[in-house]
Amino acid sequence: MSAVSTNSSHWNRDHPFAARLLHKRVLTSPQAVKQVVHVELDLGDSGLQYLPGDTVALRVENDPVLVREILELCGLADDHVLKQALLRDHEITQVHPGFFKHYAAFCADPALQQLANDSKQLRLYMEHKQIVDVLRDFPAQPSADQLRSCLRRLQERQYSIASSQTQSPTAVALTVGVVQFDSHGHVRQGAASGFLADRVTPATPLLIHIVSNANFRLPADASTPIIMIGPGTGIAPFRAFLQHRQCSGMPGRNWLFAGNRRRADDFLYGDELLAWQKNGFLTRLDVAFSRDQIDKIHVQHLLLQQAPLVYQWLQEGAYVYVCGDARHMAEDVQKALLLLLEQQGGLGPEAARQYLVSLRQQQRYQRDVY
Ligand SMILES: Cc1cc2nc3c(=O)[nH]c(=O)nc-3n(C[C@H](O)[C@H](O)[C@H](O)COP(=O)(O)OP(=O)(O)OC[C@H]3O[C@@H](n4cnc5c(N)ncnc54)[C@H](O)[C@@H]3O)c2cc1C
Ligand SMILES: NC(=O)c1ccc[n+]([C@@H]2O[C@H](COP(=O)([O-])OP(=O)(O)OC[C@H]3O[C@@H](n4cnc5c(N)ncnc54)[C@H](OP(=O)(O)O)[C@@H]3O)[C@@H](O)[C@H]2O)c1
Repeated sequence: MSAVSTNSSHWNRDHPFAARLLHKRVLTSPQAVKQVVHVELDLGDSGLQYLPGDTVALRVENDPVLVREILELCGLADDHVLKQALLRDHEITQVHPGFFKHYAAFCADPALQQLANDSKQLRLYMEHKQIVDVLRDFPAQPSADQLRSCLRRLQERQYSIASSQTQSPTAVALTVGVVQFDSHGHVRQGAASGFLADRVTPATPLLIHIVSNANFRLPADASTPIIMIGPGTGIAPFRAFLQHRQCSGMPGRNWLFAGNRRRADDFLYGDELLAWQKNGFLTRLDVAFSRDQIDKIHVQHLLLQQAPLVYQWLQEGAYVYVCGDARHMAEDVQKALLLLLEQQGGLGPEAARQYLVSLRQQQRYQRDVY
């Protein structure tokens, strides 16, 4: 592991560093279901330091067009104080049940009152909606204070670091999946991913700090083999791991399970990964393109296809890392690992579970899922 420490910097949530955009490129084709952008920030002389596995926390700035739409809907277009607050202080993209509870106090529409009291209906309604869509569906004329009382504080967004500081001492790279969907004829974007994908220019100050992640670290022994499982944007920290191991001349074997929807549209960092595979630095690369055939193939299917070799690596001391979707992928991968241990190790379900617990206790099974 490199000798840099992540504690050395005085930048933090209350005192973020204003980084500048160095470089941005779209990693996906125009046909891709979900756009993913590679974003590189200049750390200048900030002294900011990070290790592979750390994340960048970004202070978000909301979309001025969306802010204007909200102000106009509420009849508050001339309120400049409110405008600044909506830009920088409040969540205006994520809807949450608390919003309805408070907003129902200012909006007399009985349909809204009913919705606010029916948690099942509310959950269904909230899918594919942002605050602005609710204001459109249930018009009211709240005062600025009333509107602000309905809104939560704007939270930072975190992104896994996709670069190694050993290779790029004054830069940091991110892999950003752009949240974008259609809501009744309006294109809606996520606050931070939309900001990074479409609104940031080289002149925009990007307020960031590093979040250290001691629970997602390369093995201390540079010769230890690693198995990395990261479909979609889950690839990000593994690009950092691989850059770091390569730059530092670490001899350990590297096995990556990656994937996305279609090879032609969203093979993230495909050229780099294939080059690493070709020159042997990436010992194995298994990529699941879920929608390139009729039956879906996901990373856990490839993991099970390679079960004997995965088990052999585990018996040889490999560390296993999982990054990406927490809602489905991480659990499905864990189930596949348990099945693999049962099959290859001749273990019962409880013994397989204990094996995984033991890996976790030895920090040989680490997850960074969101
Ligand atoms: C530790 C950590 C590491 C992370 N690393 C990465 C990373 O490397 N790359 C990355 O891209 N993200 C990463 N994330 C997620 C990232 O922090 C943001 O949550 C993500 O970019 C969305 O933020 P946003 O502001 O763009 O969207 P928001 O404004 O927060 O909107 C997101 C909301 O939109 C809704 N939504 C999302 N997609 C859809 C859809 N298709 N249809 C309808 N509604 C939808 C959901 O309700 C969700 O609550 C990470 C998160 C954590 C906690
Ligand atoms: N509605 C939402 O709120 C929403 C929607 C999408 C993403 N997100 C967020 O964005 C994060 C990452 O998004 P992303 O686009 O990089 O990745 P993603 O949406 O998780 O998709 C990446 C790849 O993973 C596959 N996949 C889907 N389900 C899987 C499973 N159970 N096991 C293994 N692989 C699976 C996908 O295939 P298929 O899709 O073809 O099955 C796709 O090929 C998610 O963790 C989530 O937090 C949120």
